[in-house]
Amino acid sequence: MKEVPILVLDFGSQYTQLIARRLRENGVYCEIVPYSESIANIKAKNPKGIILSGGPASVYADDAYHPDPEVFELGLPILGICYGMQLITQHFGGVVIAADHHEYGKAKLMIEKEDSLIFRDVKNGSVVWMSHGDRVDMLPDNFEMIGYSDNSPYAAIANEAANIYAFQFHPEVHHTEEGAKMLKNFAKHICGVESTWNMGSFAKEKIREIREKVGDKKVLCGVSGGVDSTVVATLLHEAIGDQLVPIFVDHGLLRAGEREQVENMFKLHDIDLITVDASEEFLEKLKGVTDPEEKRKIIGETFIRVFDREASKHEGIEFLAQGTLYTDVIESVSVKGPSKTIKSHHNVGGLPDWMTFELIEPLREIFKDEVRELGLELGLPKEMIGRHPFPGPGLAIRIMGEVTPNELRLLRESDTIMQEELKASGLYDKVWQAFTVVLNVKSVGVMGDNRTYDNTVCVRMVESVDGMTATFAHIPHDVLERISTRIINEVDGINRVVYDITSKPPGTIEWE
Ligand code: XMP
Repeated sequence: MKEVPILVLDFGSQYTQLIARRLRENGVYCEIVPYSESIANIKAKNPKGIILSGGPASVYADDAYHPDPEVFELGLPILGICYGMQLITQHFGGVVIAADHHEYGKAKLMIEKEDSLIFRDVKNGSVVWMSHGDRVDMLPDNFEMIGYSDNSPYAAIANEAANIYAFQFHPEVHHTEEGAKMLKNFAKHICGVESTWNMGSFAKEKIREIREKVGDKKVLCGVSGGVDSTVVATLLHEAIGDQLVPIFVDHGLLRAGEREQVENMFKLHDIDLITVDASEEFLEKLKGVTDPEEKRKIIGETFIRVFDREASKHEGIEFLAQGTLYTDVIESVSVKGPSKTIKSHHNVGGLPDWMTFELIEPLREIFKDEVRELGLELGLPKEMIGRHPFPGPGLAIRIMGEVTPNELRLLRESDTIMQEELKASGLYDKVWQAFTVVLNVKSVGVMGDNRTYDNTVCVRMVESVDGMTATFAHIPHDVLERISTRIINEVDGINRVVYDITSKPPGTIEWE
């Protein structure tokens, strides 16, 4: 098992991922494991320090999450954050109670113990972010208060002889001005971990690992044109050259010019991409189908059939490379597994069990924006790295109703205009995703002297950090006006354009 200098035990806080982010940004590699991770697994990772995250529960509740108590006996430095602080307090014999009122928002941290290693170079009176209902009422033996705020007499506590520290506030969120520094101090001065981790070193290590694992065998890799699969394929090509078999299935549901863009990019990197044009097969299967789930199912199954057919033409394949991200991994192992069912339908490219390849998932340990950084490190163009996400089932889920060649044309033409105008206005990189939807709703209009009765497209643009929640983008009206005018003038068959102002939730980003 790989060594991990700092291990974060997750007790279900919405901020847990940020702890890992802040440390990695500071060159300290760390990983998140569920709070229930076995002590054997924890030891096997040989950590130099442990962080206990926040969490929504109360430590004194019947169903509270508790780690294996041996975690406290390993002799390793520990930092507890919020719920983690309360666990430490409870474990060592202090008292945690419900606060009179929930404390949520900014507070000023007054440092009591200025020479504490955790506060090195941290300025006094800086803003910290509080979010808690419980609080420490009595310190355990051998602990002292090292920082306080107006509402929290124990904002920071420590048993410095044992290298145990705890904060009531969240150092990992941006509002905590000096938070990243405190986390770095914990890693560097208390755990003795040097800041040596970066994307360049990560790429080198992955390439070495892949070479070692693959030997002289071949690796199959499905390429969609999206950032993740492109980065995976490029990384693998760096590592094993022509032993990589990259397959790009054109399902006929791509945006205008997309196939050519993907092919050209791989050509630039001297990667022999295998494109399979299966568009007719997909469109045939989708004929007459209007139900969104049915569409997804058909596309998923057809994809597997086409992919398998192509793969079986190549001998010596023993591995399958996939662009699984750290967020996917954490989501499926974390305490409650947020939104598992909601997102299950996204795994259109997921392959069935009977495809008996060993998996290679080089992005398993990194976040989306780290994948982008890795892509740049590997020499992929900026425009590629900054592309908006695109769903696996493609344009099929942006046509309400049956997918026909005419509807696909309306969608491609309107989408191209929308993308052009968004780029021209400099807004493309500011939104998470922007696209058009063919509504299958007809309305009356006028073109020249004639009455028209034509299709409506909806323009959907959202802002989001991770796709989990989103708000509709506040686009200047003149940009929307240009998009609307051009679509109506240039796309034959559309006479009305509407703008979607639904956020997620209650809506979703895609319409189906
Ligand atoms: P929703 O529509 O669920 O989308 O708010 C959240 C994010 O996921 C993308 N999405 C998909 N991606 N296969 C994918 O690979 C899918 O079936 C799929 N459906 C939605 C969506 O574009 C957005 O970025």
